[in-house]
Amino acid sequence: MIDLHNHLLPGIDDGARKLEETLECLRIARRDGVRTIVATPHMKPGVYDNPREIILERVALVREAQKGNEAEGVAVLPGAEVYFAADLPQRARAGTLMTVGDLGKYLLLELPYQQIPMRVEDMLFQLRLLGITPLLAHPERVAYYLADIERLAASVRLGALTQVTASSITGKFGDKARAFALSMLERNLLHVIATDSHDASYRPPVLTEAVRAAALVVGETAARRMVEETPRAILDGKEVEAGDAPSPPRGGLLSRLRAAFGRGGRPRR
Ligand SMILES: [Fe+2]
Repeated sequence: MIDLHNHLLPGIDDGARKLEETLECLRIARRDGVRTIVATPHMKPGVYDNPREIILERVALVREAQKGNEAEGVAVLPGAEVYFAADLPQRARAGTLMTVGDLGKYLLLELPYQQIPMRVEDMLFQLRLLGITPLLAHPERVAYYLADIERLAASVRLGALTQVTASSITGKFGDKARAFALSMLERNLLHVIATDSHDASYRPPVLTEAVRAAALVVGETAARRMVEETPRAILDGKEVEAGDAPSPPRGGLLSRLRAAFGRGGRPRR
């Protein structure tokens, strides 16, 4: 499996603090069956500046530390979770944004959680004109989309892809995020499942449980595609086919998932 959203680089955002924690995350991911992780520290000017060069430097540091121990066997690639800002197209043109795998093709885009961002659709369109496909980070936790799933459908029609957080599907971010993630699955609006892991214990880098939950809605093949073929295509810089809308199973889905995974808590962000 491939994890496209992960805060494992040490000491540069609210993710792993020390290299030892990074290595522990890599060991956990490996045991879960993850073989590639894109390190996506926050890139948010004034909060987490994290210029491209620093991210590349930290990735090199982690790769070096992996050698010859249990954390080996998981490829770590550069990336960033880039916060929405009006100047993104300018920064993209200047080559200062960090894209998924540093390939210049896909941008993991973080929208404000609560306020309604100005001109989201316009931004998505501008990025597409620059040849960059926005990959929307966890829309199931973004108020703008939660208010109306049709807004998300509109963003996808504009060419954006979506990434849902694994623990949203299993209920750890509460019933609202889970219900929205399930609606996304039913509407064929979910393209990638990733961990958005921040540490080894509270938000660990595991995908299996979420894939199992997603499979109850869209079937095993489609669920695996969200952690295998689709992220692979993204890392190969290829276009992702959205595919046909899957038909959801009849009734009782939420109760089946609750029975399987328990009720969701309301953890910190
Ligand atoms: Fe994140």
